[in-house]
Order: sequence, then structure tokens, then C-alpha cells
Amino acid sequence: NPLQGAQFVLAAHRVNQLPADEGAEVAFAGRSNAGKSSALNALTGHKGLARTSKTPGRTQQMVAFSLPPTRRGETSQAIETRLIDLPGYGYAKVPEAMREHWRHEIDAYLHVRRSLRGLVLIVDIRHPMKEFDRMMLDFCVATLLPCHVLLTKADKLSRNQAAQALAVLRKQFHASMPVSMQVFSSADGTGVDEARAAVARLLEG
Ligand code: GTP
Ligand code: MG
Repeated sequence: NPLQGAQFVLAAHRVNQLPADEGAEVAFAGRSNAGKSSALNALTGHKGLARTSKTPGRTQQMVAFSLPPTRRGETSQAIETRLIDLPGYGYAKVPEAMREHWRHEIDAYLHVRRSLRGLVLIVDIRHPMKEFDRMMLDFCVATLLPCHVLLTKADKLSRNQAAQALAVLRKQFHASMPVSMQVFSSADGTGVDEARAAVARLLEG
């Protein structure tokens, strides 16, 4: 597993509290309760790494995890790599002031973070492409930030239904480079290997 050995670094309320903007990182974004933290745990193979919850709006922080440094390039320099769990978006019970705060911080994060190599957008396969998801994809297309979409909770659908949902969305986003998509489930492990490889590729980008 290219993402093993992840460790908690810190939780931040503001972009400027995140680890130094060096090396390479990939951020996990998605609506509240979509399954971001569960996906992070499944991908790193570390069950208790990111806190998950049945209550939407659990992650009200930006949480940074470090991966073991990788050696790359001709000079074989060690490069710091990180995964960032962004706060869930769009949960109505979170006070408006808090939602406004995260709207602002997520936007700032995407615009200022130079080490950001790509986004993993976590989408519940049963409720795909709500306003937040489209906003994130539009941003990635406009700025050519690579985005890999995990259509998660696929265990809630039959295999055929899941494949059908993927086909429909792929058609919609056919022209939208640089977006890729796959079916995923943290619960039964569907697509975990494919997603690990995709995240590793983003980190190398
Ligand atoms: P916030 O941090 O609140 O925004 O949520 P999150 O996006 O981090 O979601 P989290 O990983 O905490 O999961 C939310 C709920 O969905 C939990 O009850 C998880 O057990 C469940 N869940 C997450 N992924 C899957 C999945 O692939 N399949 C199923 N069946 N349930 C899942
Ligand atoms: Mg979470």
C-alpha cells in the first residue's frame, strides 16, 4: 500500500495553522457525512486514523496526516507528503457562522496552498453531484487541479446500479479534464486499491 504509515500531525481551524506549505499534499473534500474520514482510513489502512461519525459535521477542522517521505527525481531528495481531511460541507445543523467560516477557509486553502497536488472528492454514490461537488469540480477544471472522485458507499447499491451511476457521471464529465472517477466503498473495500494508486499518482504530480 503506497499510503501506509500515515500519522496524525495536527488539526487546524485556519489555513495558516496547517503544516508548512512544502512538499506535496492531497486534500479530501466532500459534503458532510459523505464518508471522507472513512475513505482516509480505508486508503491508509489505518482504522482509527481519522475520526468518523454517524453524526454529520463531525470533522470541523482541517486535519493533516503525514506520510513517510518518498524519494523522487534525479537528486533523490526526500519529499514530504501529506493527506488533508477537509471539514464536511453543507450540513444544515452547523451554525451559519461556522459554515461561512469553512466556506472561506476551504476557498482560501484551494487558492493559496502551493503544495496541493490534487483533490479527492468524496461523493455518496446515491446522491451524486450536489452544489458543493459541482463547485469543487468547476474549480478543478478552471485551475487544472487534478481531481479524483470516489463514488463511495457503493455497498449500498447493487454492482449493476453502481456501474450504471459511474457510467452516467463519466458521460456528464467526459470533457471535464482533469477529472477521474471510480466506484468505492470503505465498508467492503470496493475500489480501495484503485484509489490508493490514484492518490499516489496525485502526490507525484
Ligand atoms: P464529516 O466529517 O461529518 O463531514 O463526515 P465524513 O465525510 O468524514 O464521513 P464519515 O467518514 O465520518 O462517515 C459518515 C457515516 O457514513 C458513518 O456512519 C460511516 O460509517 C458511514 N460510511 C462511510 N463510508 C461508508 C461506506 O463506504 N459504506 C457505508 N455503508 N457506510 C459508510
Ligand atoms: Mg470527517
